[in-house]
Amino acid sequence: MENIIFFFSGTGNSLALAQEIAINLDNTETYNMSGAAPDNLSSYERIGFVFPVYFGGVPPIVRSFIESLPLSKSMYIFGIITRGGYSGAASDELAEIISNSGGKLACEFTVMMPGNFIAAYSAFPDFIQKPLLSKSDEKARKISEKVKVKLIDQNIKDSHNITPLLQKIPDYLTFAKDYRVNHNCSGCNLCAKICPSQNITMIDLKPHFDSACQRCMACIQWCPVAAISYKGQSRTRYRHPEIKAEELFRK
Ligand SMILES: Cc1cc2nc3c(=O)[nH]c(=O)nc-3n(C[C@H](O)[C@H](O)[C@H](O)COP(=O)(O)O)c2cc1C
Repeated sequence: MENIIFFFSGTGNSLALAQEIAINLDNTETYNMSGAAPDNLSSYERIGFVFPVYFGGVPPIVRSFIESLPLSKSMYIFGIITRGGYSGAASDELAEIISNSGGKLACEFTVMMPGNFIAAYSAFPDFIQKPLLSKSDEKARKISEKVKVKLIDQNIKDSHNITPLLQKIPDYLTFAKDYRVNHNCSGCNLCAKICPSQNITMIDLKPHFDSACQRCMACIQWCPVAAISYKGQSRTRYRHPEIKAEELFRK
């Protein structure tokens, strides 16, 4: 393959965008950031990172994945951040992480998609979701054209001295202590397979949550019987309509 796009995705928005761009670019593979990093990066013409903004910043799993890569300034690197609203400092943070890992972010884009932070709100209603999803396809086409010609945005600065907001949230990774599992749970194990940080272990056919939660909400959103919730709240689940759970499983 000529190009590679690394994605991190809880409910499929970022994966759907990565797949659309891979089709438009052609000869492009997509690769889940919840797996181990590959070691042949210098063989790719274009390297992309697609992921959601979390609390105005880069999710910890994305940060540590990029930090583990042997990047170099000769690589063409682009970034795409999906958001439900405001992307805050995520773009600047991404440029800084890539620079600290030896690379240079050539261009970056943010794409508005349905929000998925179910601990705070239900899925957006259809009349908001549908236009957002169709606009994101259009945006993917435009981004692909720019990445094809290897656009370089001269305004991107490598260093911003940002203190990531996420690092200021003391219990960031222990969030899952407030997940609840009700009697509907059938022990199907999907939550454990989809969790990007291996934070879920099945004990006596019930999920148990450890202390490395990314807050992606995949376990809540994808549970086929809506057995998992945050603090017992009852909210409408969100999943990107064109993505299947298996496509998000850790490799
Ligand atoms: C923990 C968490 C924090 C979020 N923080 C933000 C935010 O600060 N700004 C924003 O616009 N969207 C925020 N969102 C919404 C997601 O970035 C957005 O819905 C994204 O497209 C989800 O992508 P995914 O389906 O690939 O996981 C947040 C979602 C989660 C789960």
